[in-house]
Amino acid sequence: MAIRHFLDLWQLEASELRAILDDAHAMKAVRRGWPKGRVDDGAPLDGHVLAMIFEKSSTRTRTSFDVGIRQLGGSSIVMNSGDMQLGRGESIGDTARVLSRYVDLVMIRANDHGDVEDFAESAGVPVINGLTDRSHPCQIMADLMTLEEHGVDLRGARLAWVGDGNNVCSSFIHASAKFGFTLAVGTPERYAPEEDDVELAREMQGRIELYDTAEDAVAGADVVIADTFVSMGDTDADERLDLLEPFAVTEELMDLAQPGAKFLHCLPAHRGEEVDSEVIDGPSSLVFDEAENRLHAQKAIMRWCLDK
Ligand code: CP
Repeated sequence: MAIRHFLDLWQLEASELRAILDDAHAMKAVRRGWPKGRVDDGAPLDGHVLAMIFEKSSTRTRTSFDVGIRQLGGSSIVMNSGDMQLGRGESIGDTARVLSRYVDLVMIRANDHGDVEDFAESAGVPVINGLTDRSHPCQIMADLMTLEEHGVDLRGARLAWVGDGNNVCSSFIHASAKFGFTLAVGTPERYAPEEDDVELAREMQGRIELYDTAEDAVAGADVVIADTFVSMGDTDADERLDLLEPFAVTEELMDLAQPGAKFLHCLPAHRGEEVDSEVIDGPSSLVFDEAENRLHAQKAIMRWCLDK
């Protein structure tokens, strides 16, 4: 069987993504009230080792993968790339080949998406994309799980992304065709999403609508999604804050969405910048369930990768 890498949502069949979400919901339900470190019944990844490589900072990804592999009965090794020979010039290919001799699964957070693809090309074990400059597929699986948990029927739902058309936005674009929702994206022209992603999604029958105001994108939406205006590695902070300010999610903006619309943000958030405190701390906000669901969704992703 081919190695099951989890690099981008568009590469997986809709049925596979559906099965991963179903598994995540089921595993979460069983654990309700359990201590966080208790191993799941049957320890599905007993004896398996996950290596995590970080080129960038992380709170949620690092902790949720680490706790997740323990709940599945496995163990983890966390490495900052700067502490590895990778940071001193060892090739990605050699690093992938060597780590594949020690561990069963690798999760990478990298600056350059191409590096993760190169790693997967040489690896003998599954590789999971834990965020690159181009995408953040694990995050979107947790986000979609959260919406379903709160009664949103993804097939036919209208999701609005406002702000920077960044890597997280790209993964939502990839997911639209796979899960059957419409994605309305509102960005300044300068920070519009990657055209390749939009074309790819439309080729797969994804319904992607592009707007240049937040108001047009949010009108009638079931879900409003924001993200930081200045992501890790962005060097044009002043220009971004200036151009993106009209795309901040306020209570007034939420009022343009459907009554009872939900709010998502992958965190970390900057209150008063891309979202007002009244929204992110208000009744429409699902952000902490969303953060928790990184754990459950990624456990299901790891099981899918290892076919366990
Ligand atoms: N949302 C997210 O990926 O969080 P971290 O950067 O803390 O991992």
